[in-house]
Amino acid sequence: MDTEFIMVAKTMFGLEELLAKEIEELGGKEITILKRAVQFKGDMKLLYRANYCLRTALAILKPLQSFTARSDQELYDHVYKIEWEKYMNPDGTMYIDASVNSNIFKHSLYAAQKTKDAICDRFRKMFDVRPSIEKDYVDLKIDLHIYDNQVTISLNSSGESLHKRGYRQEVGSAPLNEVTAAGLIQLSGWQKDCNFYDPMCGSGTIAIEAAMYANNIPAQYYRKYFGFKKWSEFNAVDWKNEKEIADSKISEFDYEIWASDVSGSAIERADKNIRFAHLNHDINLFRAAIEDGKRPDGKTFVITNPPYGERMEVDDIIDLYQRIGDSLKQNFQDCTAFIISSDIFALKKIGLKPTRKIEVFNGNLECRLFKFEIYSGSKKAKYNIDNQEREQENNIE
Ligand SMILES: C[S@@+](CC[C@H](N)C(=O)[O-])C[C@H]1O[C@@H](n2cnc3c(N)ncnc32)[C@H](O)[C@@H]1O
Repeated sequence: MDTEFIMVAKTMFGLEELLAKEIEELGGKEITILKRAVQFKGDMKLLYRANYCLRTALAILKPLQSFTARSDQELYDHVYKIEWEKYMNPDGTMYIDASVNSNIFKHSLYAAQKTKDAICDRFRKMFDVRPSIEKDYVDLKIDLHIYDNQVTISLNSSGESLHKRGYRQEVGSAPLNEVTAAGLIQLSGWQKDCNFYDPMCGSGTIAIEAAMYANNIPAQYYRKYFGFKKWSEFNAVDWKNEKEIADSKISEFDYEIWASDVSGSAIERADKNIRFAHLNHDINLFRAAIEDGKRPDGKTFVITNPPYGERMEVDDIIDLYQRIGDSLKQNFQDCTAFIISSDIFALKKIGLKPTRKIEVFNGNLECRLFKFEIYSGSKKAKYNIDNQEREQENNIE
């Protein structure tokens, strides 16, 4: 059996438990939930699998060394002693990602600079050559994490963030992060047992992530680049095997996935992305306003991400969210709807009582995901919330 080691999968606030569940399903052991991360144990094959399959991870780190540092010099000395020549060529490229929460090391950029100096000085002393610093597609991406005086140096096996799935050819003005989109789908509890619809789809991220999940398409099926491919210990045969096993689980989905938007240019962008992912036979994409009330027949899960107010007047935003609420009530009976927005005031103007409110992040933007159950028949009366009741709804946090 291959040697096992500890790994850390990074994620966004609120997605830790979902990620832990995904890791368990992939065979991770000794799983511990951390803040915006999950620690687990496994071998290199699991590292490949985790990179390829996890939908809610941003990066998979392989910790190299942990130590205490009480000064810049101690940080430098510890980093200098690491045998970096085992991990990269002297004339290679590298990048250091630093996250620092410490009274000793106040600036993450400065701590990263010290780390870089130590690595470069070691290479210069040994080989008379030093690696160069670049941002993208480097030979070695290093993660520096400092909490108080505790330092952890890890190798970032993903390289570029795993939200870069490789299918996004076109972006709109406010695209949803792919990891957030995948997280919303998991948070919603959609069991792939009914239709799915994003009626304000923008560049199509939520619908694409839904279609990938519905068809068991691995999260990084369209991505070519992974940091670990440049590691000296990279085993191309094991990587190919892991990929083939995951790809062999791709399956058909029995229900419908719809995506629409009022904007013609958004539909063009979504169309390019959906076609790139070869999902044009799986996603029914069309131009319409949510107010038009088109929807698939039968039970449907709606997850959507309306505008947050970028370049829109507040009055227009309130009016839009009220129209979204009206359309849900009139046209989406027997559906479950999830709406994500950073504009909590506008969310309350939807005029339906949320049955769940979840704190989530879209990148660095704090948002809420509101869940609405929309019933037909006698319960319909419940939604005749007049303006006065809408005002009362404003008090919900
Ligand atoms: C924040 S963007 C969605 C971004 C999308 N999740 C993505 O990842 O690209 C909001 C979208 O809502 C659309 N929109 C605004 N008003 C609408 C309406 N009344 N009906 C349907 N779509 C609307 C906009 O055209 C825009 O594309």
